[in-house]
Amino acid sequence: MTDRVVLVTGAARGLGAVIARRFHASGYRVAIGDITFNAAQELASELSADHSSAFALNLDVTSKEDFSAARDAILDKWQRIDVLVNNAGASKVVPVMDITAEQFDHVIQVNLRSVLFGCQVFGQHFADAGAGRIVNIASLAGQNGGSATGAHYAASKGGVITLTKVFARDLASRGVTVNAISPGPMDLPIVHESVPADKLSAVVASIPGGRLGSADYVADVAVMLAAENAYFANGACWDVNGGLFMR
Ligand SMILES: NC(=O)c1ccc[n+]([C@@H]2O[C@H](COP(=O)([O-])OP(=O)(O)OC[C@H]3O[C@@H](n4cnc5c(N)ncnc54)[C@H](O)[C@@H]3O)[C@@H](O)[C@H]2O)c1
Repeated sequence: MTDRVVLVTGAARGLGAVIARRFHASGYRVAIGDITFNAAQELASELSADHSSAFALNLDVTSKEDFSAARDAILDKWQRIDVLVNNAGASKVVPVMDITAEQFDHVIQVNLRSVLFGCQVFGQHFADAGAGRIVNIASLAGQNGGSATGAHYAASKGGVITLTKVFARDLASRGVTVNAISPGPMDLPIVHESVPADKLSAVVASIPGGRLGSADYVADVAVMLAAENAYFANGACWDVNGGLFMR
């Protein structure tokens, strides 16, 4: 058990929910932030019926004010915050020549404002406290341009990896680390919902490991990067892609 506290964004479903469960199982108290509050609340109640070790927050990651309000609500409840996992993300499969301004702006806003504002608000809090861990969920698409995802998504995830380095350098002397994890396609609802079955078979066939990735393992990596003794892992991009991209 630990008295440590984590905020996971976009944690109402998918990878974020798996990460929230993993931190909770590791003894963390977990704040579950999402724009779909009811689903976040359901998960919080499942993890902690009296909400003593898990609670839900209405958090739109495109809003810096929402991040500030989330920080204040967590401090009010538990008097400490140790870890931020910037997981919330948006993706849309659209051919590059067809992406509209609205589609581009939406994906960029969710995937990049989230990391910018999350790192600003929580990075400052951690720096003032002299300790903290930030884990940003990037993507293989941000490294190789993507295959089953849109160009705006891939571009935004490249930006997540770059922002991770900028904040890691900026905050390193204050006891704060900032790392990214770049998963390849995982066995998660969004993958099955957004990629047609025949295309998904082709994607799986292209993975040297021959199967979709495990969200549980990505969650384990996030917990590992959040540990107090992880101070020397900083500014890195942790690849979990079944061998699809090697460097
Ligand atoms: N699924 C994959 O194979 C895969 C691969 C690589 C990276 N990723 C990344 O993992 C993260 C989670 O992906 P997922 O597959 O679980 O996606 P998902 O769409 O299933 O879940 C995303 C969650 O984020 C929330 N969200 C969306 N916009 C938000 C906003 N403005 N503010 C707060 N919450 C918001 C949604 O409500 C949802 O709960 C994303 O950053 C995604 O890019 C996923």
